[in-house]
Amino acid sequence: MTAIPLETLVTVFGGSGFLGRHVVRALAKLGYRIRVAVRRPDLAGYLQPLGRVGQIHAVQANLRYPASVEAAARGADVVINLVGILFERGRQTFDAVQGSGAEAVALAAAAFGARMIHVSAIGADEHAASHYARSKAAGEKFVLAAVPSATILRPSVLFGPEDDFFNKFAAIARVSPALPLVGGGHTRFQPVFAGDVAAAVVAAIEGRAGEGKTYELGGPEVKSFKELMQFVLATIGRRRLLLPLPFALAKLQAPVLQFMPKPLLTPDQVELLRSDNVVSEAAAREGRTLAALGIDPIAMATVVPSYLWRFRKTGQYGRLTADDGPRIGTE
Ligand SMILES: NC(=O)c1ccc[n+]([C@@H]2O[C@H](COP(=O)([O-])OP(=O)(O)OC[C@H]3O[C@@H](n4cnc5c(N)ncnc54)[C@H](OP(=O)(O)O)[C@@H]3O)[C@@H](O)[C@H]2O)c1
Repeated sequence: MTAIPLETLVTVFGGSGFLGRHVVRALAKLGYRIRVAVRRPDLAGYLQPLGRVGQIHAVQANLRYPASVEAAARGADVVINLVGILFERGRQTFDAVQGSGAEAVALAAAAFGARMIHVSAIGADEHAASHYARSKAAGEKFVLAAVPSATILRPSVLFGPEDDFFNKFAAIARVSPALPLVGGGHTRFQPVFAGDVAAAVVAAIEGRAGEGKTYELGGPEVKSFKELMQFVLATIGRRRLLLPLPFALAKLQAPVLQFMPKPLLTPDQVELLRSDNVVSEAAAREGRTLAALGIDPIAMATVVPSYLWRFRKTGQYGRLTADDGPRIGTE
């Protein structure tokens, strides 16, 4: 199916989030009618400049309340689910949001005969030790049961101006003498630009992605966690100790850190860090990647310095010297 933008109403659950902004921007540019379904539409005003007057409409929906989900999906031609959480808080549990929540979206899409695109995550696995990864697998299963033609997109860690990864570690490096390398920092990632994942969503809407297929989305480089921390430090021109933290020790600290308003690390995230977060050989072999969608992914070094400059000692006025960069004092 090739959608005609002006006649196509797309409901984007989670459209107010980090990836959501990139998806809404990409859809708006192509002329789609966009309904952004969020818990607090009154706080999503920042989406309006991404489209023309009246093109983007925010409505209230909470994935934990199926009636609100159904109301937000009513009349939509395409339903996109970008809702996810990294840690649990009160009723915002992994199962409620990423499991049954995803099911509620898919059932609503099925009820209205809408095409469905669901964003999951690399590592989704019903047998995983991490509850996050298990709930992502459950969500995928529910979605495909309700809408067998749904396209599932599983990205690796996302980067972009509002990301929660590079910004977080750069912020820690600004105030801390050391950065922790959980499990020695050997876990491998394949960071992918949020704009490229948004392009994959567009490809799926335009009928360029296989129906019922699961794509794994990674950027052009595979890097260990330690290499990513070295990249952050080199980018912000700071020298910090990279401190290996064995999994067992991280597991002891995480229960304390998880009670911060926005936890630095939870026991569940320690479990996630035990497995590599990269595109699988099977996905590459079977053409379930960005390349198969005709997308040439952008490199970290092209985008990340454009927003990490604010963590340099003198912001945009600082010049990087040969002395700047990571201090590897641990091997
Ligand atoms: N960021 C990454 O590195 C990464 C990596 C792999 C996969 N993913 C997946 O990509 C998707 C988007 O991630 P992101 O980084 O953009 O996350 P994000 O910035 O935290 O955005 C999540 C969105 O979900 C909404 N949301 C949360 N709970 C909700 C609920 N109960 N009902 C309705 N909406 C709810 C949030 O809105 P409010 O809280 O304002 O209501 C927000 O719009 C998620 O599925 C995530 O698991 C992300």
